[in-house]
Amino acid sequence: MYPVSITSPRLSLREFDNSDVDAVLAIYGDQAVAEYMSFEPRTRDQVAATIEHVMAAAQAPERLEYSLAGVLPDGELVAFLRLAVDVGHPLQSSGQIGFAFRADQWGHGLGGEGIQLLLRLGFEQLGLYRIWGARAPGNDRSARVMARQGMVEEGTIRGHLKLAGGWRDSVVHSILAPEWDPGQD
Ligand SMILES: CC(C)(COP(=O)(O)OP(=O)(O)OC[C@H]1O[C@@H](n2cnc3c(N)ncnc32)[C@H](O)[C@@H]1OP(=O)(O)O)[C@@H](O)C(=O)NCCC(=O)NCCS
Repeated sequence: MYPVSITSPRLSLREFDNSDVDAVLAIYGDQAVAEYMSFEPRTRDQVAATIEHVMAAAQAPERLEYSLAGVLPDGELVAFLRLAVDVGHPLQSSGQIGFAFRADQWGHGLGGEGIQLLLRLGFEQLGLYRIWGARAPGNDRSARVMARQGMVEEGTIRGHLKLAGGWRDSVVHSILAPEWDPGQD
């Protein structure tokens, strides 16, 4: 599906373009954002490469990766959101979400709105049955925002990611299509 465009009262999702590098750098280049994510703060060149990659992935004939810009009603880009459709087993119909907002936007309910937009994309538009997210064990903000959106904490994947500091566990949250309330935002 291309291009994706989904809107809620305070946030919209749209495709990335090359002019988004500096706005994404303000998110992915920030230590406060990267603290609980699986990478070190990114440089401008790394962010530019990420944007190139997600633009190419968006054009794939069978698109599996939906990395999308979260923008305010005035067009300002404040979030990097992602839904990646799982591949591997023919009986699966699931996708993993990821989300990062610029730090000055935290604490106003925008994170929950962004997750709801990703759930709309996954359940309504892509027809998935299960959507899940994996967070660092200490990422309490992420735990709260996923729980508030109805994403049940399932358990811990031990030794999930090898980061610069060593192996890290992840805590998994998920929601199934019949559990989702499309009216929530
Ligand atoms: C995790 C993250 C997305 C949460 O974003 P957020 O916008 O603060 O999350 P929410 O939508 O849940 O916002 C709710 C907070 O805003 C407050 N709020 C203010 N106005 C609100 C409104 N109109 N509606 C809802 N909540 C509102 C709530 O009280 C709540 O505060 P609390 O979390 O201290 O209880 C954000 O902190 C982030 O980008 N972190 C860095 C990247 C990251 O960790 N990503 C997740 C990786 S797994």
